[in-house]
Amino acid sequence: MLVHEQLLRGQTALVTGANSGIGEASARALAAAGAAVGVNYVVNPKQAQKVVGDIVASRGRAVALQADVGNEDQVQAMFQTLFKEFGTIDILVNNAGLQRDSAFTEMTLQQWNTVLTVNLTGQFLCAREAAREFRRRGVRPEISQAAGKIVCMSSVHQEIPWARHANYAASKGGVKMLMETIAQELGPERIRVNAIAPGAIKTPINHDAWATPEAEADLLRLIPYRRVGVVEDISRAVVWLASDLSDYVHGTTLFVDGGMTLFPGFASGG
Ligand code: BGC
Repeated sequence: MLVHEQLLRGQTALVTGANSGIGEASARALAAAGAAVGVNYVVNPKQAQKVVGDIVASRGRAVALQADVGNEDQVQAMFQTLFKEFGTIDILVNNAGLQRDSAFTEMTLQQWNTVLTVNLTGQFLCAREAAREFRRRGVRPEISQAAGKIVCMSSVHQEIPWARHANYAASKGGVKMLMETIAQELGPERIRVNAIAPGAIKTPINHDAWATPEAEADLLRLIPYRRVGVVEDISRAVVWLASDLSDYVHGTTLFVDGGMTLFPGFASGG
């Protein structure tokens, strides 16, 4: 059994949206498991540099990479920079995502497009570049049993409809079918593709949902395990899905949600 610091030794990971929240925690966790990490960001370069600085200070390898994941040219340039820096890619964490919430009848086309472009098109563009490199390079048995691993950050809202978030829920439903379809298509090349569906995790994206005790109490009613998640709940799952410990897990969504998908409204009544 490999010890944790050696789990991803010799591997390169790219994490999109890695300067905050779940992406940041994933970048740190992958580095702690021995991977060299590309820390993608689009705004707030200081925070990306801090993540890189912290990883390097603990004798890891990391580089900050600016790119808008919804922009094809920027995504391709980012992968080229990563290859120059670290040679290749073994792990893609398709994490970058955002919300632009609105009642449905008030939702602007811009709110719709912004969310679909980052959350869904961004995952398509990055997965395509990663898969091309995995195919070109193939399996290196001394590094991993897979030619490459893709972890798509989805959400419980790939399953749970969410009023006033039609753009976001549609994007995550799309991520589910994108992930499953490319898992079916790329599996024969030993490219392993999975998703994680986080529930309510304390990050800037849902700050209002847990910022006050009243809001948090409200939120806890939706979580049978009665705890709001923290980013490490997700980053541990990312490392596992990126490693050979999960080598036979393919095309699956791992729900890490304290039971949010268990229809908690039915715990009484029904
Ligand atoms: C959303 C959060 C929300 C959580 C549970 C996530 O995908 O980004 O805002 O708290 O789902 O509803």
